[in-house]
Amino acid sequence: MTTTITICDTCKLEGWDVEKQPQTDGERLAIEIEAAAQGVDGVKTRRHSCLMGCSHGCNIAIQAEGKLTYVMGRFEPGSDAAEGIVEYAGKHAASEMGQVPFREWPKAVKGHFVSRIPTLPSAE
Ligand code: FES
Repeated sequence: MTTTITICDTCKLEGWDVEKQPQTDGERLAIEIEAAAQGVDGVKTRRHSCLMGCSHGCNIAIQAEGKLTYVMGRFEPGSDAAEGIVEYAGKHAASEMGQVPFREWPKAVKGHFVSRIPTLPSAE
């Protein structure tokens, strides 16, 4: 089953300045995640403007039909974060209910979890 990484493309880290950096930090992270997810089985990406976690960006969500949803934040845009997020999404896709054992968490996602959202009853 496919896991989708939803990336907030309007997140701005403290000190962001449009004059110095026209792209938002969220856009920069989205570009990195999209590149890292290229050709990865079971993982797709999409962008969304604001996940309502603006004070602790950059934010993303990991989602799949009938599985636990995870929201993560406090990412710096870059390839380390992007590769860890995509690796985690791949493990989420391979899992039955979306639970990835802690020992398998990529280092880049540790300390970044914001919330876990259970599946809706109709999907259980
Ligand atoms: S701008 Fe990214 S969560 Fe609001």
